[in-house]
Amino acid sequence: MKHQAALLVILLAAWPLAASAQQANLTPKQIHGRQIVTQNCNVCHLPQEYGSTKTYGPPLNKAAANGDDKLMKEVIQSGLVKMPGWKYTLKDSDIDDVIAYVRTIPAP
Ligand code: HEC
Repeated sequence: MKHQAALLVILLAAWPLAASAQQANLTPKQIHGRQIVTQNCNVCHLPQEYGSTKTYGPPLNKAAANGDDKLMKEVIQSGLVKMPGWKYTLKDSDIDDVIAYVRTIPAP
C-alpha cells in the first residue's frame, strides 16, 4: 500500500515534465504531420548548423505559401524549382496532416 502511494507521487511529479516535452494540444492528425515533417522536410526547412538561421528552403509555419492551404498542398504535391514534389511518396491524407501541423507553427 505504502509503495503504491509513493509510486503515485513520483508519477504525478513527472507528469508536467512529460507534458511540456510535447508541443501542447496537438491533435493526432497534427502529431502525425509533425512526424512526417521531421522525417522529410526539416532537412531543407530548418537550419542545419548550430547557431545558424540559414535554411535551404523558406521556413514552414502558419504563413507558408501565403497561409493558403490549397496552394501549400499543390507545392507539396508537385514541388517547385528546388523543392521536390511528394505526390508519389506521401499519401493525400499525409499531406493534409503535414499542412495541419505546419499551421500550428507560429510565424516569427
Ligand atoms: C531538398 C530540399 C527540400 C525538401 C526535402 C523539402 N523542401 Fe519544401 N522547399 C524547398 C525549397 C528550396 C523551397 C523554395 C521554393 C523553391 O526554390 O523550389 C521550398 C518551398 C516549400 C513551400 C512553399 C513555402 C512558401 O511559403 O512559399 C512549402 C509549403 C514547402 N516547401 C513544404 C515542404 C514540405 C511539407 C516538405 C516535406 C514533405 C518539404 N517542403 C521538403 C526545399 C525542400
